[in-house]
Amino acid sequence: MNIKVAILGANGQLGTDLTEVLSQTPGIETIPLTHQDIEITDFASVKTVLTHVQPHVILNTVAFHDVPRCEQEVDRAYQVNALGALYVARVAEALHAWNIYFSTDYVFSGTKKAPYVEDDLPHPLNVYGTTKLAGEMHTLTYCQRGIVLRVSGIYGRVPSRVKGTNFVYTMLQKARNEKVLRVVADEWLTPTWTYAIAQQVATFLRDLTPGIFHCTCQGACSWYTFAQAIFDLMGKPVQVIPISAQDYPSGVRRPPYSVLANQHFAQLGIDQMPHWYEALENFLQILKET
Ligand SMILES: NC(=O)c1ccc[n+]([C@@H]2O[C@H](COP(=O)([O-])OP(=O)(O)OC[C@H]3O[C@@H](n4cnc5c(N)ncnc54)[C@H](OP(=O)(O)O)[C@@H]3O)[C@@H](O)[C@H]2O)c1
Repeated sequence: MNIKVAILGANGQLGTDLTEVLSQTPGIETIPLTHQDIEITDFASVKTVLTHVQPHVILNTVAFHDVPRCEQEVDRAYQVNALGALYVARVAEALHAWNIYFSTDYVFSGTKKAPYVEDDLPHPLNVYGTTKLAGEMHTLTYCQRGIVLRVSGIYGRVPSRVKGTNFVYTMLQKARNEKVLRVVADEWLTPTWTYAIAQQVATFLRDLTPGIFHCTCQGACSWYTFAQAIFDLMGKPVQVIPISAQDYPSGVRRPPYSVLANQHFAQLGIDQMPHWYEALENFLQILKET
């Protein structure tokens, strides 16, 4: 029997690659659901749509994750990221379905000097991180088969719907007109390709376990190093100048170090995430060929 997997936010950056990879995975039937099909902030919509689908697994990629806008539009951030997760969790529980909520490195404060593991205490610094942490709690509290999967610095073929872009596309866009770019060098993360996440999810679906899982590429870098790597790999003659986050005020507090270690996947022996540079190289190669 096929596993029926409902993908919420199926036309988003991550949802697109999840849909593509899982549709090609033997034994899995995907049900892609977009905002047109389901309104996550409306319990009746969530209940009606998911009860009709009867999924074995729900992948909830839906989010309002424009970090500065979350500070301004707190209600919307809470409704989509937190209440939406609660509604999905309740319906998943009633359907005895597994429920995977995609979360973020921004649940951490960034004061640690080594990669965060799943058991580290979250301490978000902004509205986005706080509402995502609430979404995590709802997912784990209201659904026995609840799973939180934290990702970081994601980029994919389809840009983020909420932001209309991602870091890779923004850098390449800027490189068209500017030959010198200033990029923050004192915020550390792990850039992660959505296609690699989707492949890791395909493996995880073979034997799901409840709990929190980090799912990022290996290694770490600053935004500055990430930008340099993009220009080097694309052969763009751009001079990248390192600046401090303090020189680029955005009105939002962000963790200076939000690198995650995939400790729980490693303990299960299924951490297959590639190094961030290798993943970026593969992504840009595909971009060059298309
Ligand atoms: N981007 C990052 O760097 C990053 C970093 C860490 C974690 N994450 C997490 O990764 C996940 C996926 O991010 P992404 O970049 O793939 O997001 P995305 O491209 O912006 O996709 C979000 C999806 O959610 C849908 N959606 C938004 N509001 C909705 C609502 N009220 N009801 C139903 N659907 C709604 C959007 O549809 P419409 O556009 O049609 O509304 C879209 O399909 C999110 O959980 C995010 O928090 C992202």
